[in-house]
Amino acid sequence: MMVEADLLIHSAAQVMTCAADGPKRGAAMQDVGLISDGAVAVKDGRILAIGPTESIRERYSAGQTINASGKVICPGFVDPHTHVVYAGDRINEFEQRIRGATYMEIMAAGGGIVSTMRATREASVEELVEATLPRLEQMLRLGTTTAEVKTGYGLDLDSELKMLDAIAALDLAQPIDLVPTFMPAHAIPPEFNGRSAAYVAWVVDEMIPAAAEWYRNSHFVELERPFFCDVFCEQNAFDLEQSRQVLEAGIAHGLPAKIHADEFTSLGGVGLAVELGAASVDHLDATTPEDAARLAASDVVGIVLPAVNFNLGSHEFADARGLIDAGAAIALSTDINPGSAPCPSQPLVMALATRYQRLLPAEAMNAVTINAAFGVGLADRIGSLAPGKQADLLLVNATDYRQLAYQFGGNLVEAVVKNGRLCF
Ligand code: NIG
Ligand code: FE
Repeated sequence: MMVEADLLIHSAAQVMTCAADGPKRGAAMQDVGLISDGAVAVKDGRILAIGPTESIRERYSAGQTINASGKVICPGFVDPHTHVVYAGDRINEFEQRIRGATYMEIMAAGGGIVSTMRATREASVEELVEATLPRLEQMLRLGTTTAEVKTGYGLDLDSELKMLDAIAALDLAQPIDLVPTFMPAHAIPPEFNGRSAAYVAWVVDEMIPAAAEWYRNSHFVELERPFFCDVFCEQNAFDLEQSRQVLEAGIAHGLPAKIHADEFTSLGGVGLAVELGAASVDHLDATTPEDAARLAASDVVGIVLPAVNFNLGSHEFADARGLIDAGAAIALSTDINPGSAPCPSQPLVMALATRYQRLLPAEAMNAVTINAAFGVGLADRIGSLAPGKQADLLLVNATDYRQLAYQFGGNLVEAVVKNGRLCF
């Protein structure tokens, strides 16, 4: 007997399932779960069945069918580390860097994150939404169907809550599912200059409890979308002890941890992430071999962000190859933000990771899908194509999935299916 689906996509040259029970590591990262001449049946926004075209077409019919011959189907990309909500831009700093200033020098001189803070404090929720929507639309067209989004350009209670309101409004206003992360410990605001301990105390005592209250009243609770707490563990930002205070306060209020660690200096953030059972530890540029082994022995997902190194004109990248070989579960992210990575494209990140970090195309693919989903705590719903999972998938204009990493500068994503619906 035929089962009626809403949507049936068939005859794809390749379907990648990227399916896994836990974050992929080691040799499993080279397995994308390839089905040749594959098909996917979708009903009520979820995947009903997936397999070879012949067996799927024998069992399923649908109101809407798409012939995907000559195309690849893969899970929608998950971008697990973004600062996509902000006002203004940092084009002047871009020029300063071309002339020779470094990111850390600009930050120490009162620019960088604090300059975006000034613009963001002045913007209303509506203005933040307006400024961010086109960026999310670009990300969607490039295949991103879920994105984590951090606060951290407000750096005072009202402005951080305003950013959270903007994230909630944006989640409802466009197709990409957003996962909110509270990050008041992104930089020390000017009014606390030289008093970082006082700022951390304020974050711990006032801001995190207020954010937890905001979350309880938000629509994210019904959606069972997690709410993370993140900290920038770095010289001139927050030291290891301060990072611990912030993340422990977050955990005490129900916010699982994420951490920016080892972007420029190794302060011990990886060990802290492992100890606290963080969802992810991000950047990992300056990670020591001992910390790589610690990460590999844990369930924490390591997120590397090669668009940052590229944007900063660096020739050095996180040793993602070494981390994978050590046994760590690695994900990739754009880090889209106005300073260190104005980049909406996970395919470009794959292109960078394959060249500069020596990931194989299959490893890069798992790193932007299933492992990224584990990095945002949503792998039960997204990141792979399997029966029961959310029908977030891409139709890619290629007959070999490796084209996604091999080509760069264009866009092979031809269509995005989000919750079972064709977006474009
Ligand atoms: O992940 N490192 C800290 N945060 C961002 C940069 C944000 C900014 O420069 O505005 C990052 O690289
Ligand atoms: Fe970041």
